[in-house]
Amino acid sequence: MATIDDISVSPDELRDRIERLGAVGERPAGGLVRFLYDDAWCAAADLVERWMRQAGLQTRRDAVGNVFGRLPGTTETERTILTGSHIDTVRGGGKYDGALGIVGGIAALAVLKERMGRPRRSLEVVAICEEEGSRIAGNLFGSRGMLGLTSAAETARLTDPDGVSVVDMMTRIGLDPAAVPDAARRDVDHFVELHIEQGPVLDGTGTQIGVVTGIAGMRHQLVTVCGQPDHAGATPMDRRRDALQGAARMAVMIDELARGTGEPTVATVGQMQAWPGSVNTVAERVTFSLDLRHPSDPVRLELLSEIEGRCRALAEHHGLAVEIVDRWEEQAAQMDAGLQQVLADTADDSGFSWSALSSGAAHDSQLWARHVPTSMIFVPSVGGRSHCAVEYTPLEDCVRGATLLARVLYRMAY
Ligand code: GLV
Ligand code: MN
Ligand code: MN
Repeated sequence: MATIDDISVSPDELRDRIERLGAVGERPAGGLVRFLYDDAWCAAADLVERWMRQAGLQTRRDAVGNVFGRLPGTTETERTILTGSHIDTVRGGGKYDGALGIVGGIAALAVLKERMGRPRRSLEVVAICEEEGSRIAGNLFGSRGMLGLTSAAETARLTDPDGVSVVDMMTRIGLDPAAVPDAARRDVDHFVELHIEQGPVLDGTGTQIGVVTGIAGMRHQLVTVCGQPDHAGATPMDRRRDALQGAARMAVMIDELARGTGEPTVATVGQMQAWPGSVNTVAERVTFSLDLRHPSDPVRLELLSEIEGRCRALAEHHGLAVEIVDRWEEQAAQMDAGLQQVLADTADDSGFSWSALSSGAAHDSQLWARHVPTSMIFVPSVGGRSHCAVEYTPLEDCVRGATLLARVLYRMAY
């Protein structure tokens, strides 16, 4: 009789696929750029679909470009357990974020099919079209599509920073923007995501597996500071209304507030742009982004209103105007307690060390958790580095994560 010890993902194939997917969208200076519906994204989607087919899975794409590989069940054929992660990257991202959950998911379903035959409940792996919000302010576009949370109206409204609309992006690659609502599905019973930790906990403690308990909530805002353009040589310092100096003070204030509040508060000003952008003109207008996260939504909302108050006070003091616009909000999420137990028990039975931990990074699972029982497996990120070219997880950790995923899916579906 087969046991979970018979289920192990092959290291060679996993290594090869991480490297090959990690070369799609690689920039000469290092790091990946694989944005929703761009050429690298198309090549990556083709590649993973080919790997799904090679694994003997039934493949299909939906209306927003999510790619699925299905291992049909024998009895409960109408319902599905879904695994997978996102195929897009941040600008200059690494080759594990999102990608590991896809190649690990394909490997898990392949080994299950080969060693255990067909499951009782259907299993699917998905390469989710978009999670990062790198190209459009529409993060989690793929999962929102599957959960029926996108609309043709949103698609018509969204553009990238160059003004290219999602409608044009989709049309260019043969997707029908009006069909976006068709991506919705109601047959998914569970979502299980394998992902790198992206932080320092597992690596720092020498723990092999993270069983995720919850994911921090976040808000993205765009702050615009307006002052007055003036000559850099002829305008005395006390006559200036310098938008860049105001924005810089606000950015420092945000950093100090987050540090002063202490862990697990995190606040990031990752983008800043000045107009007119001349070396010899006082800046008239500056926009900057704010990304604020905390596992407690009430604490996070309180911090946001504190930041807003302090930005307004700084603006007033320096004779500036400030406008703050919300761009994205994702509430904190709890992972399913029963599935956390299955993960922990299966890790124990496999002899893998594990610890429970909460995620500061956002994930597709954050959204799925509000709709179906959801769980996440983390594997270590060396040095806690992620969203950069040096992001790295040793092969044995990737294999362990994918093997645990396969064993968990076995327990759920066979
Ligand atoms: C995505 O990785 C995010 O946490 O913003
Ligand atoms: Mn990411
Ligand atoms: Mn990710």
